[in-house]
Amino acid sequence: MNSHPKKLFVRSYGCQMNVYDAQRMADALAPEGYVETQVPDDADLIVLNTCHIREKAAEKVYSELGRMRELRAERQTRGEDMMIAVAGCVAQAEGAEIMKRARGVDLVVGPQSYHRLPDLVARAKAGKVVDTEFPAEDKFAHLPAASREKTLARGPAAFLTVQEGCDKFCTFCVVPYTRGAEVSRPVSQVVAEAERLAAHGVREITLLGQNVNAFHGEGPDGKVWGLGRLLVRIAGIPGVARLRYTTSHPRDMDDELIAAHRDLKELMPYLHLPVQSGSDRILDAMNRGHTARDYLALIDRIRAAQPDLALSSDFITGFPGETDEDFRATLALVRKVGYASSFSFKYSPRPGTPAADMDQIPEAVRSERLLELQALLEDQRQAFNRSCVGREMDVLFDRAGRNQGQVAGRSPYLQPVQVDSSTLGIGDVARVRIVSNGTNSLFGERVGVPADMETVA
Ligand code: 5AD
Ligand code: SF4
Repeated sequence: MNSHPKKLFVRSYGCQMNVYDAQRMADALAPEGYVETQVPDDADLIVLNTCHIREKAAEKVYSELGRMRELRAERQTRGEDMMIAVAGCVAQAEGAEIMKRARGVDLVVGPQSYHRLPDLVARAKAGKVVDTEFPAEDKFAHLPAASREKTLARGPAAFLTVQEGCDKFCTFCVVPYTRGAEVSRPVSQVVAEAERLAAHGVREITLLGQNVNAFHGEGPDGKVWGLGRLLVRIAGIPGVARLRYTTSHPRDMDDELIAAHRDLKELMPYLHLPVQSGSDRILDAMNRGHTARDYLALIDRIRAAQPDLALSSDFITGFPGETDEDFRATLALVRKVGYASSFSFKYSPRPGTPAADMDQIPEAVRSERLLELQALLEDQRQAFNRSCVGREMDVLFDRAGRNQGQVAGRSPYLQPVQVDSSTLGIGDVARVRIVSNGTNSLFGERVGVPADMETVA
């Protein structure tokens, strides 16, 4: 243990796995005396935890690196220094190129090497270091766990990576190249991490993976466990009130997983199931391996298992070759499903992916379709929020509310909910009646507690 505390600043872009990874990087560096800081200005080590999924996200890194270099120059005029590291998927994809394009970077580290950070940081003090290997050892077996205090400070809802990488090779997607082949963690390792989180006060766990429902980890019985079985096991851990998982592929929704939606009260009735497009021609060109009809039939099956189910999805507009008719098919699918929330993007050609070499359609068309799709998705989101008014639901409270005397939490459908209460605390799950909705939040009151008991003194 180093006695002099050093400051670490991590800025994450992109998906939830990067949020989880940022925590694990901080945990890996804690024994070296690094303490996290919320601002980059006084950091001794800055880590940009990057995303490569679309061009815009990847390019952001370079402008951010420019700003970090200025910060560093400022500090150097005061006789101090800082180290700049690039982690995440841009690090994995571009490696040593980053050093060439952005002077001032000391360390480039890919997502599979985070357990080596203490050593890499020490080496980077003597000269530039790049580590984008896929090491033979299991990174998770070498990453230290967070302390109780740190877990508590991160709040009652935690992420837990169970699977990394992707073997699906959608023709638009860089993930199979940046995160590599599908790998699942052993069940015992995942369960031990979930038990530790629960023992430290975590109430909700979101299992993460680029293709989380392709999970096929080795079970304690020596057999391969799927995600459905894993969810049943984790739901049995005392203290775990809620479970979620993301991101899923429609092709990997097996019967066991669908049954978990029927059987586990802990599994929230909210599913992110990306479809990308509603046109069979485009789904085929994307190599998704299913049709629009398959997807709709699958949703019917999951809804039959869990009638309260609400859905979200990812969409891409303007994929190469997308005609107006193809795009109308996407709008038609959206109308059929009725989404509670969604993410939509215009197609961005990514280096090394098959779709980047297909005939592209004009940027203006991609943007126009995106706007039209987003208007429909926003209408559906607002309609879903309105449909929640008058309903009772359990809310997990995870932070102070907007106004004095309010606490804020999340509904089963991840909507922010504000409640006037003097008795509820962070980490509580309580029954709430939704009384109104704003643009982004719902407002509720506790069920079964007289209003005067909740009056703030
Ligand atoms: N262009 C636009 N969107 C993309 N996504 C993945 N790759 C691309 C790309 N090249 C979107 C998909 C995916 C989400 C994480 O990002 O919708 O589900
Ligand atoms: Fe990308 Fe998801 Fe397809 Fe994998 S399954 S290639 S992560 S879109």
